[in-house]
Formats: sequence, C-alpha cells, structure tokens
Amino acid sequence: MKLSFAGKRVVISGGAIGFGREMAQQFYALGADVYVCDIQAAAMADLAESGIKTAVVDLLDRQAATAWIGDITASAAIDVLINNAGGVAGQQGKALEEVSDVEWDNVVEINLGAAFALSRAVAPSMKRHQQGRIINICSGAALKASLTGVQAYCAAKHAVLGLTRQLAHELGPHCIQVNAIAPGFVFTNEATQQQWNNFGPERQQQVLNNIALRRLGTVQDIAHAALFWRQIWRHS
Ligand SMILES: NC(=O)c1ccc[n+]([C@@H]2O[C@H](COP(=O)([O-])OP(=O)(O)OC[C@H]3O[C@@H](n4cnc5c(N)ncnc54)[C@H](O)[C@@H]3O)[C@@H](O)[C@H]2O)c1
Repeated sequence: MKLSFAGKRVVISGGAIGFGREMAQQFYALGADVYVCDIQAAAMADLAESGIKTAVVDLLDRQAATAWIGDITASAAIDVLINNAGGVAGQQGKALEEVSDVEWDNVVEINLGAAFALSRAVAPSMKRHQQGRIINICSGAALKASLTGVQAYCAAKHAVLGLTRQLAHELGPHCIQVNAIAPGFVFTNEATQQQWNNFGPERQQQVLNNIALRRLGTVQDIAHAALFWRQIWRHS
C-alpha cells in the first residue's frame, strides 16, 4: 500500500527533535503540508529550509498556542493535529518533597495543558469539516510508573490518556478520530542517552527484557504509528 498525504495539512507541536521532527519529515515526504512549532528557534529555522512551515511558539503560553492554530486554520482546515511537545522540561527524578511548584507546573503544562489548548483550538474547524484526527503522544508512563522518576511527568501522561479517551468520545460523532501513541524508552536527545547510561548494564537488560522485541524503539517506529490513517466513516 502506498501512503499519500497530498492535500492534507498536518500540525505537529514540538518538532525540533526526536519524534516530532521525524514525524514532520515523514508526513512531508508523503506530500502533506506540514506545520511545526517549538521553542527551539535554530531547529525551526533549519526545518523550514526543507519546506516545512515552522513557528517559534512557547506552548506554556496558551494564548500563543491558540494563536498559532488560528493562523493556520485561517486559510484552510487542519486534517491532523499531533500533540507531541512534552518531556520532563530538563528535570530528573528526585524525592517528592524536593519538587517545587514551578517544576511540577511546567511539566504538567507542557504535556497536558498544551495538548488541551491545541486540541481545543482545532476542534471548531475539524467539526465544521466533519473530519480530522488528533494524535496525542503519550508514554508508557501513562500506563505505569515512569522510568524518569519525575512525578509530574507520570501524572501528566496518565492525564493525557484520559483526555484522549474523553475527546475520542466527544469528537467521534463529528468524524474526528482521537488516539494516543504510548512510546517506551527511545533515544531522542542527550537526556535520554544520559538516563540510559545511568541505568547501568543490569537495569538496561531489565528494561530490554520487558520489551516484546527485546530492543528499544526508534523514532521511525513512532512516526510510522502516526502515519496510520484511514478515512473516517461518515454518519449519513
Ligand atoms: N524519548 C522517549 O523515550 C519518550 C518516551 C515516551 C514518550 N515520549 C514523549 O514523546 C514526545 C516527544 O519526545 P522526544 O523525546 O522526541 O522529545 P522531548 O520530550 O525532549 O521534547 C519534545 C519537543 O518539545 C519541545 N518543547 C518543550 N517545551 C516546549 C514549550 N514550552 N513550547 C514548545 N515546545 C516545547 C522540545 O523543544 C522538543 O523539541 C514527548 O511528549 C515525550 O514526553 C518520549
């Protein structure tokens, strides 16, 4: 089967590195118009050279997040929104009593608040067109304790899964599909490499033993899951 996204508009949050960047490049290679935002300006400029439309947006600012979607939907509808921006905001696991309010809030806001704000912003246009797809990049930490040890990350990813389920039911009757992808441990940046090194050989082997394929996932694995697309059955 040859996939084509020609004529489709795909919007991805957090596309500077890792999954977001790979998904942006794969959707673009398959013909989609791709829109990406991130706080990393240099990476956005670099990605823009390939033809992907980029914007520097701090998604901790919900107004800015909403305005970015408004700019895109002003010209045409969005077919796919991928809420990918997230992560641990540079934090490492530490004792609960040492976690500050700001540290907690930042992680919850980038993982959960941004997914809420961007989904809310695309919903009216997707409803008008009676089609669309929202993909939330969740985590294994949505289903069990997080390998990162960051409490806010685990809590936020569990909440993203709840948001996914709720929106799937709310928006499904409008022919809008809402799904989550829950990746396991994947090397995407220095922090994941550092975390893996810190595990040491024994814990690394334990992690691998708990994976069906006995290997870590790759950014390509995650992008391929996001490319899954089918026409939504329309109510008559
Ligand atoms: N790498 C993994 O092992 C793994 C595993 C499970 C889930 N995830 C999730 O997958 C998604 C992508 O992860 P990743 O490892 O590719 O990259 P990442 O988690 O390091 O960051 C994703 C992107 O979000 C951007 N971002 C962070 N704060 C932002 C803000 N305030 N405004 C705009 N953009 C912001 C970052 O600059 C980065 O490009 C995240 O939601 C992450 O939580 C990652």
